[in-house]
Amino acid sequence: MTSTTSEIHELKVPVIDLDKLREGDADELANLAYGLGDLGLIHIKNHGIDAEQLDSFYAAFQEFCAKPMAEKESLSQAHVWFQRGWTPPDTEKAVLAGGQPDFKECYFATPEEIDPFLQAEYPQIFADNIWPADAQESGFADRYLTIGRQLHQIGLSLLEGTAQALKLPKDTFTRFVQGGAHVTRALHYLPLQESQVDTGVRWGEEHTDFNLLTLLPGGRFYYENGEAYTPKGVSGLYLRARADEQHPQGRRVKGSAPAGCIVAQVGQQLEILTGGKLLATPHEILPPNEAGVHRSSMAHFIHSHPHQVLMPFEQFKTPEAIQAYRPPVLAGNYSLKTLVDIGLAPSEELDKLGYRHYRRLAEQRAQEGR
Ligand SMILES: [Fe+2]
Repeated sequence: MTSTTSEIHELKVPVIDLDKLREGDADELANLAYGLGDLGLIHIKNHGIDAEQLDSFYAAFQEFCAKPMAEKESLSQAHVWFQRGWTPPDTEKAVLAGGQPDFKECYFATPEEIDPFLQAEYPQIFADNIWPADAQESGFADRYLTIGRQLHQIGLSLLEGTAQALKLPKDTFTRFVQGGAHVTRALHYLPLQESQVDTGVRWGEEHTDFNLLTLLPGGRFYYENGEAYTPKGVSGLYLRARADEQHPQGRRVKGSAPAGCIVAQVGQQLEILTGGKLLATPHEILPPNEAGVHRSSMAHFIHSHPHQVLMPFEQFKTPEAIQAYRPPVLAGNYSLKTLVDIGLAPSEELDKLGYRHYRRLAEQRAQEGR
């Protein structure tokens, strides 16, 4: 692999006890503030996600991924920017990856009810779920949505704790995200060929998430025959901690959670709202130095309501923060821009923002022969 393997630092990621956090425990709030502020990532115990249920979901997802390409392609929806259904490999790319697509295939579904008015305004990010024909019998859809809903509730509790830790009213963030285009994603990282081992190929290039908070219940490595693979050496999730004087590039830290814990990480929207007090975590997914190993994982993305304006809250509105995060952007449009940036939405979508009146006038003038 690259030189990155020798640069992993042993910074301790705080483990938050969700039961205690929900009771407002002062130590847990302090740990949460440190984790989300300096590392942009925490581990969570007593979260209520059942490991066996997660394994059953991954088994159903692996069955889906093994389906014939034509069947998966019938569930691929470029017209909703791949925000529902199957995303083929080589589609999404990180903004700083130089055009290199990630080495993965994905599935998107929302565990939330969809507001028809928001669907009319933002048809892609509020699209209806679609499922493979056998999704009910195989348990794929039920398990998917059950875990998605559980992750969402965990996220809301963390957001209440985050508001308390920042001395904001407890419902500050939960109100902000109510009705957002929350989405749960299943990911299948593809096995490396022998010739790709040790070449620096990444499963997921380094990026920051563009939503508000991301929940990761933990991935599973396996061989082609389904047998579990125990990761050795550097593989899985790595993050980049906040830069400081000694480490201006930010120290790289293993992000994968210890057994029984899950992960939460800060997205760009939460960093913006807090004027940079919380850190949108740069992170990447590395494959093991071994051919033939797959990885399944899942992520739940909590988004701001699309009508909320992304700019630092009053408490965090310093001249530096205004400068760093200007101009304010409507959260729904921020999503649109980012989906263009990462290759899922066509760039013409940006041209549709704002110019309709000129177009109407141009059409009227054309009728006059002008
Ligand atoms: Fe990510």
